[in-house]
Amino acid sequence: MSTTTTDKDSDTTVLPERIRHFPFPFSGDSYRYSANVEPAHKTVQTEAGSWGSFLIDNDEHYLSELQEREEILKKDPSRTQVLPHMRFAVWDAITTMLPVMAEEHPHTMSYQRDGNTCRWGNTLQNLELEFTIGDDDSLPMGPLQFLGSQIQDDLVFLDPREDTLWLDAGLVTFAADWSFGFDVGMKFMEVHTPVPRVQTEPVINRAHQFLLRLQPGEQFRRTNWTMTIGRRLDTSTETYPDWGPDRGTIAQDPDLPNKLHLRVEIQHMLCLPHTGAILFLIRSYLLPLTDIAQVPLWRERLGHVLAELPEDMAEYKGINRYRKAASTWLLAG
Ligand code: HEM
Repeated sequence: MSTTTTDKDSDTTVLPERIRHFPFPFSGDSYRYSANVEPAHKTVQTEAGSWGSFLIDNDEHYLSELQEREEILKKDPSRTQVLPHMRFAVWDAITTMLPVMAEEHPHTMSYQRDGNTCRWGNTLQNLELEFTIGDDDSLPMGPLQFLGSQIQDDLVFLDPREDTLWLDAGLVTFAADWSFGFDVGMKFMEVHTPVPRVQTEPVINRAHQFLLRLQPGEQFRRTNWTMTIGRRLDTSTETYPDWGPDRGTIAQDPDLPNKLHLRVEIQHMLCLPHTGAILFLIRSYLLPLTDIAQVPLWRERLGHVLAELPEDMAEYKGINRYRKAASTWLLAG
């Protein structure tokens, strides 16, 4: 990630928060897959500001995104599943994540534990709650649904056994063009089968080995990116008819710069302390091209990345039909 400020950069102090804190993922004019893993919590300076000091980031969309999640879960309960042996991993995640959230956001969140009794406060939701660790009935909803009602990230749990990792639980309402319901019960390597180049490049195999060696308490992160038309978080395979057709028309749409968003995921990987399960957190950020263009270096970089991206990667990301139009707009400056 570059930290250089050039003469061409805008005055970043006047940029809105959504731009200053956006995790712009490109450090050069081209992009290839890599394991790109780094320790969590490290602040990254960008040309517009910074991101990454927190594990859990509550932003201006906190209430609206959690409301949207609740509605999606109501319509489609398959977006959350917990295989029976993962029940303890979910409680492990609750007793790991709530204290982190309270520590990182002490003005809005609080957590106290006395034996197995916990008290959770969240002023953003006007919520005060007492529950007993391990007792599902002491929570107002299922334990994973409860955690998913407090945190903007999607949650995926991997169970390490038989020298591999099994995607055996999760709550995913904001998937970028994949289906949690389809992947649940699969192995890590199977989940990545559709990704191009997995047969010839070692990235996914390396990621697998890395995750298998994670030690309890360790926390790492990486970013991934794609593009989304509209400020639409739910681009799961299940709702493809709602958003897929836009991919065929956006290139001709005069409003492309406002509608087309760069979508960046900050993905955290934690080894839970009591069960050894891997918790994979996916937090999605969306920024329209018009906002990207307010930072001259971002405008140029994204323009070049989109133009240069190999066709197989562009096709997999679903951006192949409009990336040229986007790149042309960005590079026209
Ligand atoms: C260091 C760790 C990881 C690396 C390097 C990695 C790498 C990748 C890459 C390169 C892609 C293609 C993305 C694109 O072109 O937009 C991908 C997709 C994906 N990854 Fe990972 N990944 C990692 C961890 C995980 C974990 C822990 C999970 C959770 C099970 C996961 C689930 C997925 C899914 C569901 C997809 C979409 C697959 C589809 O299209 O069906 N990844 N990953």
